[in-house]
Amino acid sequence: MISKGTKQEQYASVLPQIRALIEGEPDLVANLANIAAALKEQFGWFWVGFYLVKSDELVLGPFQGPVACTRIRKGRGVCGTAWAQAATLVVPDVEKFPGHIACSSLSRSEIVVPLISKGEVWAVLDVDSDQYDQFDETDKECLEQIVGLVESGVRS
Ligand code: SME
Repeated sequence: MISKGTKQEQYASVLPQIRALIEGEPDLVANLANIAAALKEQFGWFWVGFYLVKSDELVLGPFQGPVACTRIRKGRGVCGTAWAQAATLVVPDVEKFPGHIACSSLSRSEIVVPLISKGEVWAVLDVDSDQYDQFDETDKECLEQIVGLVESGVRS
């Protein structure tokens, strides 16, 4: 397999791509769809996508990967917990996360980053890997930076 560089190098490469893709484009779904595609292409993760807050639930939004659960309640699973806590969650082994929602039995580790505007979570970015322990502080910082582009661009 051809190496794509370190994780930092990969984020350094994908970040300007994402910025260019969404700059000047006000359509939320288009931007979330392109971000999911760019991240999947760069990192080859098992599943990358967004859930959008609609009333009292998260509802599946643009994603790349196998079919996934459509609706998640606040406080349920990794996504619903990241929403309730308004904080990024890094889960090295999903089987050890109480209440983890297994959309696929192949998922092993996960990171969920909330998108926040005016103090309210309005969506989450969910990334799943089929390998254990794939996400760390670098992913947290870089994915928070990426969702920050959407937060400042689309929802301002
Ligand atoms: N595992 C997530 C559900 C979403 S799927 O992974 C795409 C969770 O526990 O919230």
